[in-house]
Amino acid sequence: MSESPLIIAIDGPAASGKSTVAKRVAAALGIVFVNSGAMYRAFTWWVLQNGIDPHDTDAVLDLLARTEFTCGEEDGIGTIAVGGVPMTRDELAATNVNAAVSPIAAIPEVRERLVAEQRRYASARGVAMEGRDIGSVVFPETPYKFYIDASPEVREARRRAEGIDDSIAKRDRIDSSRKASPLVIPDDAVVVDSSDLSADEVVETVLAAIRGRLGE
Ligand code: DC
Repeated sequence: MSESPLIIAIDGPAASGKSTVAKRVAAALGIVFVNSGAMYRAFTWWVLQNGIDPHDTDAVLDLLARTEFTCGEEDGIGTIAVGGVPMTRDELAATNVNAAVSPIAAIPEVRERLVAEQRRYASARGVAMEGRDIGSVVFPETPYKFYIDASPEVREARRRAEGIDDSIAKRDRIDSSRKASPLVIPDDAVVVDSSDLSADEVVETVLAAIRGRLGE
């Protein structure tokens, strides 16, 4: 019997440092880094590109039913194409996408579709996947769950330093209070507060916990 692929679930609020950590943990373990937020962002970009109001749920769902997602990999990093259009970093981080992504991600049917894509992707290869509901909803059975946190001040400052215009507090509120799969800390997650830690220190903490469990 073949072993099932390794799944590392890394959740946390916006700008908590979870992407950096997930990317480096994936590289250290030789598995693929997947940014699930990029999938919600890609679909949001597609909604805007099609001239649809992100709050017009019927129109958004009509588009969803007609939309193909293609999840691939390049040098250990997951890629996403929507409607056949490969997404670039700039498109995914655009200000209009930042503003519309949380309402789009709150629609249950959008989540169902993207969660199915995430599970299919991880059934074929090991992943370190980061997002909001990866440990709580997408892969509740994985023993490797992490929640990376940081204070709101530190997170706002990180986004400013990146030159990205993002209303973190507003997205936090929508992401944590929505009905469908809100941001929560899974009961069995290892919680790391990255406010006063370097990226190296967070990565080491996460890798040590994974190695500890792999060796059990
Ligand atoms: O991680 P990020 O900031 O790029 O995510 C963008 C948005 O997508 C975030 O505001 C909430 C949503 N998201 C989600 O609802 N579930 C996920 N697993 C990942 C992201």
